[in-house]
Amino acid sequence: MHREKPELIFFHTGNEHKLDEASQVMSELQIKIRSLKDISSSISVVEPQGENCAQIAHSKIMQVLDSVEDELNGNWLMVEDSGLFIDALGGFPGVYSSYVHSTVGNEGIVKLLEESKDKSARYISSISFWDGERIHSVQGHCKGRISLESRGDSGFGYDPIFIPEAGDDRTFSEMTLLEKTALSHRTMALKMMVEKLNFPSM
Ligand code: IMP
Repeated sequence: MHREKPELIFFHTGNEHKLDEASQVMSELQIKIRSLKDISSSISVVEPQGENCAQIAHSKIMQVLDSVEDELNGNWLMVEDSGLFIDALGGFPGVYSSYVHSTVGNEGIVKLLEESKDKSARYISSISFWDGERIHSVQGHCKGRISLESRGDSGFGYDPIFIPEAGDDRTFSEMTLLEKTALSHRTMALKMMVEKLNFPSM
């Protein structure tokens, strides 16, 4: 499939960090990312339940499109759902990552893993996007492990306790935005989005 490269993609998210990461990655391709809030302040989305991030992202974009398709003026739209999946905990917190982070936080996760030898985990990012005609879905992963010591100040969520496998011994929170986006699940998903559409100019 070939598509003209879009100049602008609206991102429906309330998370400024996700917006910064997506903007950083897509700026390399001269694609601007703007918050959907810039054109529509009153989108009501019921947080969907789903078995995995892909289902949740898909259900979210359907709801968002229902309320803003006319305001998009043909521009693209993306939504993202992500989570941390810890092997020794059978994939927990997974699709409950946001809730678990706001309740027991990183300390709670560290306590659950203290006695476990296996600290392996992965982040998953599922993006559903609308290209003005159709919805597409892509997914990116980032393998790593959980650090029992919380380190660093940047990033968000579980970043102070997540050490990416492809990095050195630092957590995501000890990295710059550029270093995190070189390795992150969100970047992998954004790259899949670009590849999937096979823009002729790239
Ligand atoms: P969402 O907004 O429903 O996609 O929530 C995803 C949750 O997973 C966030 O609130 C974080 O707790 C966690 N999460 C997803 N991606 C990241 C990341 O890049 N860094 C840190 N935490 C993340």
